[in-house]
Amino acid sequence: MKRLCILLFVSCAGFVSAADVSYHREVWPIFKRHCVGCHSAQKSKGGLRLDNVAAVQKGGETGPLFVSGKPDQSLLIKQIIGDEPEMPVKEAPLSSAKVALLRDWIAQGAKFDAPPASTAAAVVIPAVYAFAPAITSVALSPDGKIAVAACRSEVILISVDDTNATPRRLSTESDLITHVEFSPDGLRLAVSGGSPQRFGAVTFFKMPEGKLEHTRRHGKDTFFRGGFAPDGKAIALGGADGAAHIVPVDAAAKINSIDLHSDWVLDVTYTPDGKQLVTGGRDKATKVSSVDTLRLLRMVDQSTDIISAVASDALAAISGGHARTLTGYDYKVALAGVEVGGSGNGAVPVNRRDQYVRAFEAQADVVLDMATSGDRKWLAVATRQPEIRIYQMSDRQRKSAISKVPAPINAVALDNNGTRLALGSRDGQVQIYEVAGGKLLRSLVPVPVTPVNTVAK
Ligand code: HEC
Repeated sequence: MKRLCILLFVSCAGFVSAADVSYHREVWPIFKRHCVGCHSAQKSKGGLRLDNVAAVQKGGETGPLFVSGKPDQSLLIKQIIGDEPEMPVKEAPLSSAKVALLRDWIAQGAKFDAPPASTAAAVVIPAVYAFAPAITSVALSPDGKIAVAACRSEVILISVDDTNATPRRLSTESDLITHVEFSPDGLRLAVSGGSPQRFGAVTFFKMPEGKLEHTRRHGKDTFFRGGFAPDGKAIALGGADGAAHIVPVDAAAKINSIDLHSDWVLDVTYTPDGKQLVTGGRDKATKVSSVDTLRLLRMVDQSTDIISAVASDALAAISGGHARTLTGYDYKVALAGVEVGGSGNGAVPVNRRDQYVRAFEAQADVVLDMATSGDRKWLAVATRQPEIRIYQMSDRQRKSAISKVPAPINAVALDNNGTRLALGSRDGQVQIYEVAGGKLLRSLVPVPVTPVNTVAK
């Protein structure tokens, strides 16, 4: 009996070592470690990229990398063997074990196996929550008929007028969703966030169907809040790396980043002409940069505390945050001379802050979120207090307020002309109001929640 086990073990082990070399598990780690530094999208020496399967199959200037089944006739092997191998340039030659592995891989037909499933824990969305999860972001369709709320890894589509319709749940690959927003034409929903210390992600859904289009991942940490470009072709999002990231909807188009803050960028918005970005974040700064050149135009303000939200109309940038202030910055004055005088950190502004600051009334508490209507005429501001204030952008005057809301409110949104307002609270409620008169249209916890005492032990 014992003998049989040993026999089985030995034959099994033998079988395993004779198995095909896996491109993704064995070959790719070698390329990644020794080669992609010079053979990738950023640098493709000899016209060769080794950072994706299609490129490896294609080869470089000289031609294909390998002759399937014939390692000795393959350029890849010729470049890495010999007394002084050509590759990797200026680095220690590959170990004989690695060379043997690449040889075996080609001898076996240079096959590309399926990429391994992610080893990280998949996102888990409970059918029923034990506690109502905090709403992290809300959005309203331009016509104000659909409200969207985000909590943890899912977004919920809520019909504002049809109170009998069951809210629809859409899942994403993000562990934590930080921002949801309709494109200006209302035909697309962007859901962004990511996985802390792993990746940033934006998922696009076709609206009103709620059909998944695709997800774009970027960087090594979650995205924060941001805003759609006025033409709806990209969304700009704050990053934990201090950059504003411009993520095109087109999955083939490059993601551009403007690296300009020394800490998390918590919010980004486009100017209505799509030419500039306003950013604010944990480094307490409010900055304006050019979408065209991807460079800073001017740091318009340095607050005494964190900037949590930014907004813009055609005339002014607005930022608000923990300093309990809401400040407008007149573009014409603030940027006068800056663009012509050369952009970037070296630009010398010709105007002082007090010449372009346009103050709003003081805020009762820390500003947690702001939202503009699609037409940029109205601004809704949520603080830690149970009141949402609505300002007219043109004269910065408060025009209405919605009181007795379930504070603290994490997120607010307005529809295209500021008729309806949606909010999401930390204790998991979503409410939709008519702004004029403050009538409550809907109030709900958008996900199923089982009271704690009835959860099966
Ligand atoms: C430090 C930079 C550097 C590293 C690292 C490097 N290469 Fe290169 N590679 C080059 C340069 C430069 C060329 C083009 C000039 C030449 O052929 O010497 C090149 C060319 C090549 C070519 C020929 C492409 C063609 O079609 O002409 C192959 C094949 C190649 N490299 C494979 C590799 C492999 C495999 C590794 C990793 C084991 C590697 N390289 C690592 C710089 C590098």
